[in-house]
Amino acid sequence: MAEMTHFLALETSCDETAAAVFTDDLRVLSNVVASQTDLHARFGGVVPEIASRAHLRNLLPVVDEALSRAGVSLAQIGCVAVHNTPGLVGALLVGVSAAKALALALGVPLVGVNHVASHVFACRLAAGRDIFPCVGLVVSGGHTSLFKCDSALSLELLGGTRDDAAGEAFDKVAAVLGLGFPGGPAVEREAQSGNPKAFDFPRAFSDDGRLEFSFSGVKTAVMYACHGQDVKRAAPPGPGQKRADLAASFQAAVVDVLALKCKQALRKTGSKRLAVGGGVSANKPLRAALATMCEKEGAELFIPPLNLCTDNAAMAALAVEKWRRGEFAPPELDAEPNFA
Ligand code: KG4
Ligand code: ZN
Repeated sequence: MAEMTHFLALETSCDETAAAVFTDDLRVLSNVVASQTDLHARFGGVVPEIASRAHLRNLLPVVDEALSRAGVSLAQIGCVAVHNTPGLVGALLVGVSAAKALALALGVPLVGVNHVASHVFACRLAAGRDIFPCVGLVVSGGHTSLFKCDSALSLELLGGTRDDAAGEAFDKVAAVLGLGFPGGPAVEREAQSGNPKAFDFPRAFSDDGRLEFSFSGVKTAVMYACHGQDVKRAAPPGPGQKRADLAASFQAAVVDVLALKCKQALRKTGSKRLAVGGGVSANKPLRAALATMCEKEGAELFIPPLNLCTDNAAMAALAVEKWRRGEFAPPELDAEPNFA
């Protein structure tokens, strides 16, 4: 029997410091995530410099924890993988530098992985079987993008957002409503007691077949509906029916648009599989709307469990595909902040 290869993967693209150990047959042996949410909460968003410093402090303990939970020693690692794009450049650099040093010291190959492609691959990992070709939706704090995925490594962008990402809109609306950071879970909670039809917020591009998104209009609409014209001096509203209605109506507008654009992407590509990843895919009403839409379209829906939806290093098991092809990164592998 051929010997199994163990991978160590690192993720530091935004505000989670993560490490995972998996095997070349896609068994995840450990998946450790240290969240920095507490450090950023009082600023109402991720502060890049704080994120980089926290990654520096947390990365080695997180790596040690991932190895120990997997029951694997550094000497047993046969390949090091790292998300080197896209993300905050200073944050990415911490993971990339550590991965390069580890690969060099261990004398094993290094594989650079695209974080967004990994979010789609998380669906493959959770499904335990092939899901390609499919349509991929990555919906997070940094991305709202639809892809035609012919294979795990060939993603063709069908359309992205013109302005804010969906998660960013959740975070900004949460700030307007005084619900704290991170906004997504807080808005979802608040929306539970609200009426999603109380406010008729805009659904951008829903009248045409363009596979693009725009969420800055709905965010501004929530601001005016909340405060009237005096948005600059207004304090966040207190608890009450209006705040819940604003949250529910905003969430309904975002969910409607995401489900509609996924439907259009399935029809346009002729695909019968939808794979969804990124932090916003933790949203239960979104999951329900996508499930209903896919059922009507006769399509199969893949959404990973929550710990594989939000940022993590296990989804970098996409590295196995590159490793099989011998697509190793050069020693000068760099952090690339923009999606290529
Ligand atoms: O994928 P992720 O962990 O990090 C990025 O790569 O951005 O996504 C984080 C984003 C945040 O904007 C957060 O507010 C949003 O995902 N999010 C949610 C929910 N949970 C997290 N948005 C809506 N509903 C949720 N339950
Ligand atoms: Zn992400």
